Amino acid sequence: MKQSFQKAVELIRAGNVVAVPTETVYGLAADAFNITAVKKTFEIKGRPPDNPLIVHISHISQLEMLAEEIPETALKLANAFWPGPLTIVLKKKPIVPDIVTGGLNTVAVRIPDHPLTQKLIEKTGPLTAPSANRSGRPSPTRPEHIREDFGEEIHILDGGNSKIGLESTVLDLSGDHPTILRPGSVSVKMISEVLGFTISPESTDLPLKRKSPGTHYTHYKPAASISWMPSGVREFSPDIYYIFHSEISTPEAAHIHSYQKNFEGLARDLYDHYRTADHLSCSQILIESLPPSENHPLISPLKDRINRSIGS
Ligand code: TXA
Ligand code: MG
Repeated sequence: MKQSFQKAVELIRAGNVVAVPTETVYGLAADAFNITAVKKTFEIKGRPPDNPLIVHISHISQLEMLAEEIPETALKLANAFWPGPLTIVLKKKPIVPDIVTGGLNTVAVRIPDHPLTQKLIEKTGPLTAPSANRSGRPSPTRPEHIREDFGEEIHILDGGNSKIGLESTVLDLSGDHPTILRPGSVSVKMISEVLGFTISPESTDLPLKRKSPGTHYTHYKPAASISWMPSGVREFSPDIYYIFHSEISTPEAAHIHSYQKNFEGLARDLYDHYRTADHLSCSQILIESLPPSENHPLISPLKDRINRSIGS
């Protein structure tokens, strides 16, 4: 591990990309101030250049290096949720290369909650890190997912399986009102409680430019097609992969999974199921329809990711 960590430090310093663990999903890290390194990230992922990257830092004080204005709301939320799965979008300083922000005048920042990656950032400085999948594929939550997408091409800093399994909440604090651009495990309710006023949930009718550019692209797709399950399914085809969340009893099988209201477990495993369905050559994944978002903080991000992988 010591050797692998040292290699990661050297690769980043030499302007290369390295896959790094975070509590949400694995990231494809590069030196945020090295334009050539950031460019490699876009090329390796096959990512459209107008989809900006999140800059990962290891200490709140590094915000000043990146952001022009740091509103009180940002400090409150950073103190409450960092290190953790909340990304904050602020007006950027000129030092942040345009390639990082896809030409926007804002920068997205977070401190990831993983000791290895925090230690790495302490050695290298701020790192850009999009999810470490090829563009359009499910985000990687385990080292083997990265090998699936990239083979031996990428050095992986192995930090075990991601604890949360869904990407961070993205919150825009660069405008007049805090706006959720991507729901994550830090919920609207949790943010509102810290701020002392209610922020509105993600609005689907925002002008497109206000939304995260990444949300326009197809995401999180395995080869199998994904649909919400019709109610009352009790017969199982070997060609279909089934994911239940409610407390019903189902047969035990590699293609049938039941979470008994454990939404943390479902979030953690979702992208692994997408990939496993492909390995089992299932042509379809059926997911039991989720209850209203108020029931659990993970329901809103789960619905968001699943709907986007359905393409609706
Ligand atoms: O949990 C996560 O956020 C993971 C881990 C590795 O930190 N990273 C991740 O990165 O999911 P990525 O690149 O797959 O998704 C970043 C999202 C995209 O939807 C992107 O458009 C949005 O954040 N984003 C980045 N910078 C932005 C900005 N300046 N303004 C608005 N949205 C931004
Ligand atoms: Mg991604």
